Amino acid sequence: MIYTVTLNPALDKTAVIPDFAADRVNRIASLRLDAGGKGINVSKVLAALGEKSVAFALAGGDTGRLLRRLLAEQGLCCEWLETAGETRTNLKIIDPKRHTNTDINEPGQPAPPAVLAQLRQLVVQRLQPGDLVVLAGSLPAGAPPDTYRQWTEDCRRQGARVFLDADGAPLAQGLAGAPWLVKPNREELERLCGRALPGADDLVRAARELLAGGVQCVVVSLGGDGALYLSKERGFRAQALPVPVGSTVGAGDSMVAALACALQRGWGMEQAVRFSTATAAANVMTSGTQPADLAQIEPLLAKVRYHELDRAEPLA
Ligand SMILES: Nc1ncnc2c1ncn2[C@@H]1O[C@H](COP(=O)(O)OP(=O)(O)OP(=O)(O)O)[C@@H](O)[C@H]1O
Ligand SMILES: [Mg+2]
Repeated sequence: MIYTVTLNPALDKTAVIPDFAADRVNRIASLRLDAGGKGINVSKVLAALGEKSVAFALAGGDTGRLLRRLLAEQGLCCEWLETAGETRTNLKIIDPKRHTNTDINEPGQPAPPAVLAQLRQLVVQRLQPGDLVVLAGSLPAGAPPDTYRQWTEDCRRQGARVFLDADGAPLAQGLAGAPWLVKPNREELERLCGRALPGADDLVRAARELLAGGVQCVVVSLGGDGALYLSKERGFRAQALPVPVGSTVGAGDSMVAALACALQRGWGMEQAVRFSTATAAANVMTSGTQPADLAQIEPLLAKVRYHELDRAEPLA
């Protein structure tokens, strides 16, 4: 089974405002509400891929209740732990005339350490050897930066594999728990290494440093430039598919979901490269908040272009 964990979920409020501008009254042309947060997004994509998952998340207050209802209506299997603080609302302003996308994100209420520990316990006691846990997104305000390290260690002790998709200190410290896979994008990897990584060689070297630290697989996503996939044994570079862009929001989450699906199904690395690139491209093509389904992904599989990297460079 695949479990996803969202410690800092949000209600995403998407407002379409033509000619949006500061310092004046703006009128909303249309408004929609979605349950957001990276783990939840991964679970939504997994469902569209025909793979079952359970999404564990914290929720609080009226916004938390709305989040739970929205996901229940979509038939997503979720397990919630109630927190005292109100779940945050993130406002996304889309301006179809100026082609801008403005995010106004709340920091979120702090989650008490006891609540975080309780959720971790709830997840850990469910795990069987061979399960996969996806830890994704930011931490709630006040959570210790080594939160993902603790989670990763506890999950691994149960025989589960962990995917970690995070940024900053939660990623840096989470690596000490030796997750099975990490999927930084270029900026996240640069922040992690503390240096610019302009070329493919720089990225490969940085990814190999993570492999030397105990991670089994590093996927560096490069937006419209595709992605690098590295394990200790092999490495691949995939081109992004040249598709019409609807919205790139959540492209990384759809890639993580496809990689989770591939691992859970026992696929080899090349099949994972193909499937995750096609899944991410199909989701980039759709501008809506509903993930792309297999009917949109399958025609793209044969179009994915990738090559194996030279193993000449030794592991760091
Ligand atoms: N413009 C694009 N055209 C085609 N494919 C794309 C494009 N942008 C992203 N992708 C695909 O999606 C993958 C992940 O994208 P990206 O590197 O932007 O993830 P990310 O920064 O983690 O995104 P997020 O965290 O917002 O979900 C890329 O490796 C690529 O395969
Ligand atoms: Mg990302």
